[in-house]
Amino acid sequence: MLALLAGCGGQREERTAPDVPPLRGTAAGRFVGVAVRADVLGDAGYATAVGRLFDAVTPENELKWALVHPKPNRYAFAAADRIVDFARARGMRVRGHTLVWHDQTPPWLGDPRLTRARLIAVLRRHIFTVMRHFRGRISEWDVVNEAVADDGGPRRTFWLERIGPSYIALAFRFAHEADPSARLVYNDYGAEGPGLKSDAVYALVSALKRQGVPIDAVGFQTHVSTAPVEGFASNLRRFTRLGLDVELTEVDVRVPDGAEAAARQALAYRRIVGACLAVARCRGIVFWGLDDADSWVPHAYPGYGRAALLDADLRVKPAYTAVRQVLMGG
Ligand code: XIL
Repeated sequence: MLALLAGCGGQREERTAPDVPPLRGTAAGRFVGVAVRADVLGDAGYATAVGRLFDAVTPENELKWALVHPKPNRYAFAAADRIVDFARARGMRVRGHTLVWHDQTPPWLGDPRLTRARLIAVLRRHIFTVMRHFRGRISEWDVVNEAVADDGGPRRTFWLERIGPSYIALAFRFAHEADPSARLVYNDYGAEGPGLKSDAVYALVSALKRQGVPIDAVGFQTHVSTAPVEGFASNLRRFTRLGLDVELTEVDVRVPDGAEAAARQALAYRRIVGACLAVARCRGIVFWGLDDADSWVPHAYPGYGRAALLDADLRVKPAYTAVRQVLMGG
């Protein structure tokens, strides 16, 4: 019997969860999660694997403005609720992603009639409405995502242009007011190793801390190739010296199409997980997508794919085994 399911890559056969030891519970107090898509949760193999192997989830898109707040007065919580309910029924932790980002926003947010004061009010109401809907069910939020440009300057987004640089601190303050018990995270990519971008993120979060802005952690997305991230652990450590936790929030390791890269990829994953484990305040790791059929990588990086821990048929790859070994202290 071959049922066909509509996945992101079109039609495909029903899949079975791999019968392997889980990653959940292996990392002594740290969470091990995966980004989940509501539209694939109906695939029993996918859902079983997510629930069996991990102890945390991040809704991959369902909490972004365009999806959760499509019209000024309409919120659409059903898809995120499905993921959150799924996770909570299995005792998994949920990371909320994300309250302020320049991407995946609804067209109405660009309305030029939104003055600065109105846009701030809209931002506040959005943060309150979304966080309160999930209060007690989502324990931590990526409050601001990708506010630093690759050259180390402030990213020129409409948030910056319309509100000014204070939008970042405002968002954290609103988030803390909306749910004082939530852990609040600044999240970005390309800041894993030392360098211009990392220094800029460091300067940003240092300033927030100095100003008494409620921020608990920095999320390092960690979308990388197999090239080693030099100085990853020591860079994470310098952020923790600011009194912040760190997390790896969106890990994937892309490889060029066609290349035999399983061993190289496993080694890269091993190093990434090792960097987190080497830092006492690295609270957890989330992998960005369960498997190669559901990964965003081939869309974002043409010519690259197979970036996940499981292949498109949900079979574990050497990367999975390597990650488990490192998590177990091997
Ligand atoms: C990606 C999703 O994985 C895709 O499905 C979507 O089409 C685009 O966004 N940094 C982030 C994530 O913070 O939200 C992005 O997720 C990947 C890069």
